[in-house]
Amino acid sequence: MARKFFVGGNWKCNGTVKSNEELVKVLNAAEVPGTDVVEVVVAPAAVHIPAVQAALRKDFSASAKTGLAKGLLPNPLKHRSDSLQAALRKDFSVSAQNCWQGKGGAFTGELSAEMLKDLGLPWVILGHSERRHILKESDEMIADKVAYALSQGLGVIYCIGEKLEERESGNTMAVNARQMKALADKISDWSQVVVAYEPVWAIGTGKVATPQQAQEVHDEVRKWLAANVSPEAAAATRIIYGGSVTAANCGDLATQPDIDGFLVGGASLKPEFVDIIKAAE
Ligand code: G3P
Repeated sequence: MARKFFVGGNWKCNGTVKSNEELVKVLNAAEVPGTDVVEVVVAPAAVHIPAVQAALRKDFSASAKTGLAKGLLPNPLKHRSDSLQAALRKDFSVSAQNCWQGKGGAFTGELSAEMLKDLGLPWVILGHSERRHILKESDEMIADKVAYALSQGLGVIYCIGEKLEERESGNTMAVNARQMKALADKISDWSQVVVAYEPVWAIGTGKVATPQQAQEVHDEVRKWLAANVSPEAAAATRIIYGGSVTAANCGDLATQPDIDGFLVGGASLKPEFVDIIKAAE
């Protein structure tokens, strides 16, 4: 089954109004494959979402790093500048970084899935290793976030991945299977889920997984989906790789049969993100 290539740019807790404007100008001007070939998602910090959303070309969609909304609602920004309006391409869109695992309310500092839906955002990154290991979000909490985000009509980029010591002790697949099971215990419809395999030891380290290392885990995850969800879900679910992806290494990774795209951190803040998108060709 052909799976559309998926490239996410996870801007994490980075960027200023000015630097985002400059990056969006580069993205808007980029020659990239059509939306029938590649799906591009950009995930700025929450405070920057409306401004990036207003300026970003409409063929890139935005992803919250914790909650998002289906489809593109009319642009919520009334005050966007003419230059941004003029720059806006009809082929890209933007998302937030955190969404509560339930309806909004007395959860100071949180964002609700409904708020992201109100902004018209179509994707969210959930389960990122930085939220698992720095912010201590448990497997169950993340699975609840995913289930709620999906219930609100949002799509989810669901991150899994092992730490170096877990790989070195031979527990790579045990860890990834545990994280997959935590979600499978909460959802049955995987059609709006993209799985992002992000070995923790490759994130931000410059130590990218070899194409063979990544393919091996992607293959195991797809087999896990076939055995524990359905052969159809296994065939249809995009499994993307993240962890020190650059313009230099994305081509070799993209040749692997079970690598359906990338989730990019550092390199997504640079013009080379365009070259990574082109790996879809
Ligand atoms: O979510 C993607 C991110 O964790 C990968 O970061 O900087 O290694 O590409 P980086």
